[in-house]
Amino acid sequence: KTTAVIMAGGRGERFWPKSRTNLPKQFLSLTSDGETMIQKTIKRLAPLVETEDIFVVTNAAYKQLVHEQLPQLPQENILAEPMARNTAPCIALAAAVIRKKYEDAVMLVLPSDHLIQYEEMYTDTLKQAIRVAEQGDNLVTIGITPTYPETGYGYIKFQRGGEDLPGGVYQVDCFVEKPDLDTAKSYLASRKYLWNSGMFVWKISTITENFRKLMPELYTGMDAMTEAYGTPSFDQVLHDQFAAFPSESIDFGVMEKAEHIYTLSASFGWDDVGNWLALERINQTNEYGNYVTGDVITINTSRSTICGSKRLIAAVGIEDLIVVDTDDAVLICAKDSTQDVKKVIENLRICN
Ligand code: GDD
Ligand code: MG
Repeated sequence: KTTAVIMAGGRGERFWPKSRTNLPKQFLSLTSDGETMIQKTIKRLAPLVETEDIFVVTNAAYKQLVHEQLPQLPQENILAEPMARNTAPCIALAAAVIRKKYEDAVMLVLPSDHLIQYEEMYTDTLKQAIRVAEQGDNLVTIGITPTYPETGYGYIKFQRGGEDLPGGVYQVDCFVEKPDLDTAKSYLASRKYLWNSGMFVWKISTITENFRKLMPELYTGMDAMTEAYGTPSFDQVLHDQFAAFPSESIDFGVMEKAEHIYTLSASFGWDDVGNWLALERINQTNEYGNYVTGDVITINTSRSTICGSKRLIAAVGIEDLIVVDTDDAVLICAKDSTQDVKKVIENLRICN
């Protein structure tokens, strides 16, 4: 049996001011077809997983939003976290619920806010990942050949040759979450690393065993949640467990320390749309290298992204800037500082 767990509780802070605490990136449409990121994520799973086996884990605050955007999902498949504890507890909750339905099953663990260009290749890659996950107690991650030293990603050091594995599947030497720039540069030059796409495939029994070894509080918490699921005490148990869970990503909590990790090197045109720079990568820019939406006049302007809203924006003689207008906030950002946009939110929190 193959099930899917969509992680949809992130806050998308680097996409401020379009992405807001009450409407983060996964619920926005960043492409011209009008579909939101999470709607695209569910749609591309059609050849792989039945709708009734797709679970979305999100913060309680976004439960209604998920239901509105994905009316086809059974309501009980939307799992609401009482508080934000990052991705390791999110996965533990999903595993605890799914194993009540199926004793063991393969879990595709997927982010809710990425773009994929070639969907058939995506399907084929995940099918192969499912096979590797079924064959043993393996943690499988999807790797992407890096093209620049991104510090916002995890890196996977993989072994060429060695064990007799099917084409495109590699054993992982080690996993390094979000290195600094110099380290990322050396990884890129060595050609021994892939980007971690943040997509994972494993059996519920495999991740449970890894929690037992590496994050025992999640292992015991899972037992409590599985037992209470479907009874009136579930909400209380969920609340108590989440209150006690550490806030930890699956990358730091499990992947950096675990054994038996495999990676599939994939080339299905992946973008995590991590910050405003992504828009000029995923959309067509004009002859001056600008990407412009809304009511915008540009004069002598190049390599800039300008997103208008209700009023006219006129850009004169600017280059390498990102300008985003919304009803109540305007972002003006140098292109080499897009990772720092989340600091605006930190600042707003301190001021309010
Ligand atoms: N349910 C739930 N609860 N989901 C969450 C939470 C949470 O507390 N926190 C984050 N998520 C969701 C996000 O919405 C996103 O879909 C996914 O989990 C990954 O979280 P991000 O916060 O976007 O992680 P990241 O981009 O910094 O890093 C991860 O993804 C990179 C690739 O995009 C890591 O796995 C990196 O290693 C990887 O390179
Ligand atoms: Mg992300």
